[in-house]
Amino acid sequence: MPSTPNQPTTPDPESLVDIVAIDGPAGAGKSTVAREAARRLGMRFLDTGAMYRAATWWAMHSRVSLSDPDALAEATRRMPLELIEQDGGLLVRVEGHDVSQAIRTPEVTRNIRHLDGVPAVRAHLVQLQREFAAKGPTVAEGRDMGTVVFPRARCKIFLDASIGERAQRRALELEKNGVPVDRAALEAEIAARDDNDRNRAVAPLRPAHDAVLLDTTGKNLDDVIDEVVRIAKPTR
Ligand code: DC
Repeated sequence: MPSTPNQPTTPDPESLVDIVAIDGPAGAGKSTVAREAARRLGMRFLDTGAMYRAATWWAMHSRVSLSDPDALAEATRRMPLELIEQDGGLLVRVEGHDVSQAIRTPEVTRNIRHLDGVPAVRAHLVQLQREFAAKGPTVAEGRDMGTVVFPRARCKIFLDASIGERAQRRALELEKNGVPVDRAALEAEIAARDDNDRNRAVAPLRPAHDAVLLDTTGKNLDDVIDEVVRIAKPTR
């Protein structure tokens, strides 16, 4: 396919060798674990969920119809997205606005399902993800890192936990930030996201055949981080 100025050529995934791919369902602790593991391994951290969130925020902000896949794809291609690593977090900017908090509202979270099944939206974000990783050793977390985006990653980990535990962790996180929580509603929302992630036609959530499965139910996140670092440390 010829490339246009808006569509830089995708680096060959075969050449992306120093990648740790971490996948798993919502609330399994991927972001916390991947960010801290990246820091300890001296690698960059890529939160691909933040990219789907930013694309959703941008579509809503630009008043693009969420039921028009072509318009969503076009908006995603035009999104001026910057991901900036900072101590203790990731700064997400779209068109110069800091949207790091805005992309995590329940409204954005609910609307991601309109974009994450659109092949042209995914194709563009996958291209950005590969470009990011081509710049240096990367721990990338999401739903399809080991299966689609980085099939030749040198290490693949699938983090899972029971739905009850994932809801409990999310509730504690929200309560810590002073947000009142309806636990039953939270669990139902996570179940709906699981269903959407696992059953979409394009890039469904599933462990790669060569992924290490890590069930974090009942484990504390510090122990999980230690385990991920042990698994992901290069053996030279
Ligand atoms: O990890 P998260 O909760 O921030 O991800 C938000 C949503 O983005 C998630 O519900 C599904 C979608 N997503 C995706 O489809 N593929 C990815 N690689 C990462 C996230």
